[in-house]
Amino acid sequence: MKIAIGCDHVGLELKDCIAEHLKKHGHTVQDFGTNSGERTDYPIYGKAVAEAVASGVCEKGIVLCGTGVGISIAANKVRGVRAVVCSEPYSALLSRRHNDTNVLALGARVVGRALALMIVDAWLMGEYEGGRHAKRVEMLAELDDMR
Ligand code: RB5
Repeated sequence: MKIAIGCDHVGLELKDCIAEHLKKHGHTVQDFGTNSGERTDYPIYGKAVAEAVASGVCEKGIVLCGTGVGISIAANKVRGVRAVVCSEPYSALLSRRHNDTNVLALGARVVGRALALMIVDAWLMGEYEGGRHAKRVEMLAELDDMR
């Protein structure tokens, strides 16, 4: 799978760790930065990753900042993106099954490396179930049209 990844300065170390993990498991990773520890702004990277996913350049995206909150809000501003911020694997898995999330956000100051990788694996493993969830996901898409 081709996965877009991006972070602010706080998420840099965890981003590189996740990118390595994904490559080791056969995924292609497109890195949207940041790639330096210099202070920067999470909306830049949330937007870049979200646009790569919304346009179909990448199938899914992973974004990181200190809490995962700011960068998930940024990603969710892009039409067609359903980003979820998770600090445990259960919500990550269910967000795929029920909400068809296409961007995962993580807080580098919230989760350690091992837990982050567990969350990433659970999220990637989840298959969207459609069925009773489809109408609700369609309703989310309608909210995009209200902007
Ligand atoms: C940067 O200090 C921090 O605000 C950012 O990484 C993130 O946590 C915002 O939601």
